Amino acid sequence: MASEPGPPNSSSSLIEVRNLTRHYRMGPQTVHALEDVTVAIPRGEFVAVMGPSGSGKSTFMNLLGCLDRPDAGRYQLDGQDIGGLSSDALAAVRNRRIGFVFQSFNLLPRQSALENVMLPMVYAGVGHARRMERALAALEAVGLRERAAHRPTQLSGGQQQRVAIARALVNDPLLLLADEPTGALDTATSLEIIGLFQRLNRRGITIVLVTHEPEVARFAARLLQFRDGRLIGDSNQEPEVAA
Ligand SMILES: Nc1ncnc2c1ncn2[C@@H]1O[C@H](COP(=O)(O)OP(=O)(O)O)[C@@H](O)[C@H]1O
Ligand SMILES: [Mg+2]
Repeated sequence: MASEPGPPNSSSSLIEVRNLTRHYRMGPQTVHALEDVTVAIPRGEFVAVMGPSGSGKSTFMNLLGCLDRPDAGRYQLDGQDIGGLSSDALAAVRNRRIGFVFQSFNLLPRQSALENVMLPMVYAGVGHARRMERALAALEAVGLRERAAHRPTQLSGGQQQRVAIARALVNDPLLLLADEPTGALDTATSLEIIGLFQRLNRRGITIVLVTHEPEVARFAARLLQFRDGRLIGDSNQEPEVAA
């Protein structure tokens, strides 16, 4: 029951966040990591999140990704109120509806690319043959099918990030969240990865991507800017098209 999708989406937005607030208590201090953020993101958008270090970008992404809970405010994902969910239900939303990509790839070093990509489907209860088939298709979608047997150390940084993207996509999520996905990559490789995100977005997946590189942000159609935990800018732009 906990893992069932929510009621049909009553609005056009995939993400609706209202007055979202997250404070960290550090002894006598309170860090206002996120303060009263209200924003709606329609299905199919490609959004870049920018702002200085410490401005609340990762806190915002962790809340969108159901990795953390807010102290105040509301979050609806695809019409479903996330605030009321149990921890198990949150884990199910994370596993089935959201894909994550991080700066550090977070691949298991002793597992092959294929095994890394198969992993989220273990938690989702997919049988072995089907896991293999879907993982190979996901590797194909990122151009790495022929590297399926390689371990992370046998792959370049860009290839490792593509494996991580395949892993994020393998349960066919609604939403892809990427926190500084090009932060560990050189410029040419960053552009390859952003081109991949654009192609995936054209096929329909909603993407929210944190970056502090304007070079990367210009490929998104919308730009959210954070400062001191607040959303201080929200603008649409004509995205650059990657080759
Ligand atoms: N787990 C935590 N405990 C205490 N403070 C935190 C924690 N995570 C983040 N913060 C603080 O919250 C603020 C926002 O952090 P973060 O969302 O990571 O910013 P960004 O991703 O924009 O660099 C910063 O001041 C940071 O130090
Ligand atoms: Mg961060």
